[in-house]
Amino acid sequence: MELLEQIKSANISIAEGSTSWSSPSNIAMIKYWGKYSGQLPANPSMSFTLDHCKTETRVDFRKGNGNGVSLEFLFEGKANAAFEQRILKYLNSISTVLPMLEKLHLSISSSNSFPHSSGIASSASSMSALALNLVSIFNELAEEKLEQNEFLQFASFLARLASGSACRSIYGGFTVWGESDYFYGSSDLYAVPINSEYISPIFNDLCDDVLIIEKGAKKVSSSAGHELMHDHPFAANRFDLAKSRMGEIREMMSLGDIEGFGKLIEKEALMLHGMMMTSDPYYILMKPNTLSVIEKIWEFRREKNIPVFFTLDAGANVHVIYPSEHTKVVSEYIRENLLVYCENASYLCDRMGTGPKNLNA
Ligand code: PMV
Repeated sequence: MELLEQIKSANISIAEGSTSWSSPSNIAMIKYWGKYSGQLPANPSMSFTLDHCKTETRVDFRKGNGNGVSLEFLFEGKANAAFEQRILKYLNSISTVLPMLEKLHLSISSSNSFPHSSGIASSASSMSALALNLVSIFNELAEEKLEQNEFLQFASFLARLASGSACRSIYGGFTVWGESDYFYGSSDLYAVPINSEYISPIFNDLCDDVLIIEKGAKKVSSSAGHELMHDHPFAANRFDLAKSRMGEIREMMSLGDIEGFGKLIEKEALMLHGMMMTSDPYYILMKPNTLSVIEKIWEFRREKNIPVFFTLDAGANVHVIYPSEHTKVVSEYIRENLLVYCENASYLCDRMGTGPKNLNA
């Protein structure tokens, strides 16, 4: 990436200031599961960026004490040593690509729009918000500023190094991460947005209602899950299939084939969990209520003939995906028939969003 050379050798004048971004989470349609060293994906993935589930992060920066990256971190107004350590490790790891970090002291303060420990992964929103702040700081201090497209590409690159799927949150709408023959300009190093002109309008306003089957941290982390793909007996087939599914989904989205799209995302969700169940050691993140909800969604779809589908992340919660024109009837169905399967009847209504916002702009 040519841009990295320009950034590494940039002329920086240290000053103080503050930046602030809000950045949403995303939900994958074609799943990223398995990676190579350097946080490179074993297969390309596609997601859409959400609207309401987001992280707001503010960074105050000033000259550091000259002893490398220094930091204090507040999460929802309180010191959080575990998050601070994780961020410090990340900032140290990227200081070779962003040397200005070693000369700065950063005070980072972050909060989520969705409840903590709701079982909604916050790494995509929080790490993309942090990466965008870092690139904003670079642009404030560097003599030669990055232009808009370079800015976003570099933010996606940095977000990827923190948490793979976070790189897809830098753009609104549908995005692709990982080199794919079917998406021009796609790369393993950063995500790219899919031009909505190539997508039939039915896909440009999808809803994602997240049914919280289980709150709290999951038993096996995504990092551990990715790791288990290394010696997985089905890994090679899985990666090949994901690659060809990128072509299938592109075709379906340009033709407006919502049925085909919906069935493909369901196959992807079940295959992701199939990979977990056939890892060594094997594990199951779905709960009995996850399966009950899936059955109910299938029943509802058959009876009402409405394009409503599910996907799953690496956890027990169910994401209900459907075009916004069906919001009323789907919401009613969820409230009346599905909340009994959710922990404390909790669920979140989200939809496709337009991407991160610079709160200082
Ligand atoms: O970005 P990570 O390392 O948290 O992995 C995320 C993997 C999935 O959420 C299960 C799939 C995806 O593509 O987002």
